[in-house]
Amino acid sequence: MTAHIDAVLSEVPGWLSQPEESLRYEFARDWPATGNIVEIGSYQGRSTICLAFGVAERKTGYVLSVDIHTGSRERQPGKRAYHPETFCPKTSGIDTLPLLRADLARFEVAEIVQIRVMTSVAAAAMFTNRVRLLFIDPDHHVQSVGGSIRLEVSPRKRRLCHFA
Ligand SMILES: C[S@@+](CC[C@H](N)C(=O)[O-])C[C@H]1O[C@@H](n2cnc3c(N)ncnc32)[C@H](O)[C@@H]1O
Repeated sequence: MTAHIDAVLSEVPGWLSQPEESLRYEFARDWPATGNIVEIGSYQGRSTICLAFGVAERKTGYVLSVDIHTGSRERQPGKRAYHPETFCPKTSGIDTLPLLRADLARFEVAEIVQIRVMTSVAAAAMFTNRVRLLFIDPDHHVQSVGGSIRLEVSPRKRRLCHFA
């Protein structure tokens, strides 16, 4: 699996390192609680794919990917974390959804990932199913992170946060 994760890291833009993505893969594969995985903030799919690799080996469940896909504040044109490939001429703004879909297909995990284009706050209000693993990685402003953390958690669920 290390080679697959290395391929994701070299082909899908993102910020998480090999040890961080390997940990996501291992938790997705091994964490014993019931329920599915929810990721808040998928961007182009780097961590989504590694979580999906784990679910694929577990042979049950799915990854629910929640993202607004119009980019965090720090990812807008001219800001420090802007990637030009995310700019959509049609909308004159950021649109990472087509990039996420293409990456999920390229790594053959599209069937394991359910995409929801919405905010973390909208997701928290909507989901009632059990969550086995919650990975929170939206924009890193305190307000957004607080909204994401309000998602209901099951007693044995793992919560992974990436606050850089
Ligand atoms: C740091 S990136 C995610 C990186 C991804 N987890 C990875 O490892 O490659 C943050 C993402 O969170 C999304 N985002 C920002 N605020 C959000 C919110 N309130 N609800 C849902 N997604 C949000 C942005 O659109 C962006 O794609």
